This record gives sequence, C-alpha cells and structure tokens, in this order.
Amino acid sequence: MSESWLRFWDRPHHIYVNDRHLRVHYARIADEILSILPDRGSLSVLDFGCGEALDAARVAARAARLYLYDGAPSVRARLARRFANSPRIAILDQAGLDALPDNSLDVIVAFSVIQYIDRAELPGLLAGWRSKLAVGGFVILADVIPPKARLLDDIGSLLSTARAYGFLLAALGGLLTTLFSEYRRLRHQIGLATYDEPEVMALLRDAGLAPIPHPRNLGFNQARRTYLGRRL
Ligand SMILES: C[S@@+](CC[C@H](N)C(=O)[O-])C[C@H]1O[C@@H](n2cnc3c(N)ncnc32)[C@H](O)[C@@H]1O
Repeated sequence: MSESWLRFWDRPHHIYVNDRHLRVHYARIADEILSILPDRGSLSVLDFGCGEALDAARVAARAARLYLYDGAPSVRARLARRFANSPRIAILDQAGLDALPDNSLDVIVAFSVIQYIDRAELPGLLAGWRSKLAVGGFVILADVIPPKARLLDDIGSLLSTARAYGFLLAALGGLLTTLFSEYRRLRHQIGLATYDEPEVMALLRDAGLAPIPHPRNLGFNQARRTYLGRRL
C-alpha cells in the first residue's frame, strides 16, 4: 500500500485544483503548525511527509531548525530547489532522517500522511519517532481519517474551502477530474488507512508516547482528527 501511494505522490497529480488551492492549502498547514509549536526558542522540528511545504519558511522562522522529509524523491528535489537559500531548513532523505540524533527533536509533524502508510508499518514508524524526540517533545498526527469518515466529507470540505477562498469553479472542475483519476482508482483499490480514537491512543501508548486527542483537527476537514503523542 505505502509503495503504491508513494508512487502516486511522486508523479504529477491534480489533488490541488489550481495554484490558488495549493497556496491556500499550504498557508493553512503552516498556520496550524505554528499554532501548536511550543512558545520557546531553539526548536528542532521535523515535518514528515511534508509535501510541497510552500510556507515552510514561516515555520522555520519560529524554529532553530526545520527538517523536511518526504518519501517521494521528486517532491524532495523540488523542496531542495525551493529552500536552497534557507539556512534553517534542511531537506532530508531516508539516510538523513535515520542519521538525526536520538532525543534531538522537539516536534514531529505528520500532517495528512499516516493514511497513506501501511497499517503494519505504523507502529515501527511511531517507535522510531519516539526515539528521535527529546523528553517533553511530541508528535502531531493531523488529518487522521476515522473509519466512519465518508468521501462526501472530503468533497464538502473542498467545496467550502473553495467557496471561502474564491476557487469554487475550479474545485467543481477538479472534482470531475478526480472522478477519473489515479487517486480515485487507488483509493478504491488499495484504500486509505483509517483509525478511530481508541486505536490511535493505543498505538501512541504502545510506542511509548502519552496520547492526547486534540480538540479539533488541524486542517480544513473537521471530519478528520488530530492527536498528539508526547514523550514523557
Ligand atoms: C496528502 S500529502 C500531505 C502533504 C502535507 N503534509 C500536507 O498536509 O499538505 C501526503 C504526503 O505524504 C508523503 N508520503 C506518503 N507516504 C509516505 C511514506 N510512506 N513516507 C514518507 N512520506 C510519505 C507523500 O509523498 C505526500 O507528499
């Protein structure tokens, strides 16, 4: 499952219906990350599965170091070009990720990512993140899809965002494109990993992290959920 989704993200796709959608999306992600960062200096933050991270510079301005990691090589290549002149931002590949010292990160963000990862791989990933976190540091799992969430929730969220930000027509066209897209085929054939609250809490606990459900989802879609897992 993970490999098929990674291949999808590694190729050109039309998940964002136009440039405005892309920009509005990443501005919101950056705002949400900033809203939850601890209010102190010299933070080390890892954004795992960061995608295009268009507004990462705003997050980096609040951190001593922002590490961006994405599993898709083409995404990493674009990130490396985009942030070549941003001294606080480091783009990591798998080796770079593995080489991060243990106990060194204050925050690990996984925003809209774990749904694309094989369920069997998640415990190992969480355990790895736990070892990279400093005591008191935390992981943010955002945009986690509950089993009862419906495709209609995603559509409703896209349309209300599009209405609010003035790209409704493009969103309607985008929905039509999605109907015949590789995304729809993969979602139908392979599916997305979904988790309910007790399951996420147990996964975090088993990884040695104290689970904290967040009162609202960080992101546009309030049918999805956000959880924090703190290393005590
Ligand atoms: C929906 S996008 C989310 C991007 C960004 N975090 C956001 O919230 O907009 C999913 C991202 O996760 C990355 N991804 C998917 N599976 C991954 C994996 N197994 N390891 C690392 N990154 C992965 C994809 O390449 C893609 O950029």
